[in-house]
Amino acid sequence: MRVQVGIIGGGPAGLLLSQILHRAGVDNVVLEARSRAYVLSRIRAGVLEWGSVEVLRSAGIGERMDREGHVHDGTGIAWSGRGRFFIDTRKYAGKPMMAYGQTNITEDLFAARDAMGGLVIDEAEDVTPHELNGERPYLSYRKHGETQRIDCDFIAGCDGFHGVSRSVIPASVLHTVEKLYPFGWLGVLSETPPLEEIVYARHARGFALASQRNPMLSRYYIQCPLDTQIEDWPDDKFWAELKARFPPELADRIVTGPSIEKSIAPLRSFVAEPMRYGRLFLAGDAAHIVPPTGAKGLNLAISDVFYLSRALIAHYRGNDGYLERYSDMALRRVWGAARFSWWLTLLLHRFPDQTEFDERARESELDYLARSEHAQRSLCEQYAGLPFED
Ligand code: APR
Ligand code: PHB
Repeated sequence: MRVQVGIIGGGPAGLLLSQILHRAGVDNVVLEARSRAYVLSRIRAGVLEWGSVEVLRSAGIGERMDREGHVHDGTGIAWSGRGRFFIDTRKYAGKPMMAYGQTNITEDLFAARDAMGGLVIDEAEDVTPHELNGERPYLSYRKHGETQRIDCDFIAGCDGFHGVSRSVIPASVLHTVEKLYPFGWLGVLSETPPLEEIVYARHARGFALASQRNPMLSRYYIQCPLDTQIEDWPDDKFWAELKARFPPELADRIVTGPSIEKSIAPLRSFVAEPMRYGRLFLAGDAAHIVPPTGAKGLNLAISDVFYLSRALIAHYRGNDGYLERYSDMALRRVWGAARFSWWLTLLLHRFPDQTEFDERARESELDYLARSEHAQRSLCEQYAGLPFED
């Protein structure tokens, strides 16, 4: 087989890239290691920046999002003992936000790929990129025991943090920067009506978050130690701990019910640079991870794909400028979100070794945010998402 772009990974980054390229007449194939059912069963993030909403719409997959997604003005911060604080992106950044789950986006992308006859090969084993420094790179993989080869002009590494793409870049070329946090998030999905607003709660017992997927589907998280076992958190214990971290007036409004999913994710910041090696281009979690505070992971995957699709389409129209600048452009936005997510994580979580000084400085920071319009504008500009570069 021969295609213009070979895409490794069929998560949101890979499928969206495939969709945008196909619509622009750039033929491509997606190679995904897992089954489609497995990809669609993963519960991930759920808050979209408006720039992401527009990218999804212009890729032709905005219809259900516009019908079922929840457009909202921003996010609350509940800080024990203090009044309501609201990150009002509509007021200070001129843009609302959209609550719409990554699982739904992935479903919409699969449906759109099928409708256009897009080629997504799942359960592809041992996917390997070759000859990345030459003019003729290719992909090999195994399916039903047979080895296959796909020749391409370019390869897009959209295979997530544990994928193969980043690992084939020589250590002498790839620079990685990492920060680990001494806690994780224990998340629960339940078929109960969510709070109207998404709320981050900062409390002496630890951080908590109330989020949403649709009018009858809620997503909640609590900060937990890294060695936490899911078995030790039956639903009753989870709900009691969640409510203990919210102010009583919000806790009383949280509707509990049986969990339909429960998972633990450690928090990490990670950036790999450059996001290009010869004819291989990285996008999404393959190149970077941010802690979930601030909900930037999915939005960064979408912005990488926006830049990369524009660059590849321009290449086929005779202009290589964007392709040459892809890594620098994407990384500026990645570092902006990495800094923001790190800062919001520091502000809202309880660290095992924190001192009284750390605590008082955080309180002072929240007071400043609450009083200063400049500070709120800056926070909202970043939470709503920085604009794409031309
Ligand atoms: N070969 C083929 N596919 C692979 C390989 C491989 N060697 N390794 C991983 N994959 C697939 C995974 O099974 C997954 O479906 O690549 C896909 C990567 O998808 P994601 O991990 O969802 O990453 P991405 O598409 O970049 O989306 C980023 O996911 O983790 C969240 O916060 C993150 O919301 C953001 C989004
Ligand atoms: C989510 O809905 O899963 C979510 C919302 C906000 C975040 C992180 C995750 O900051």
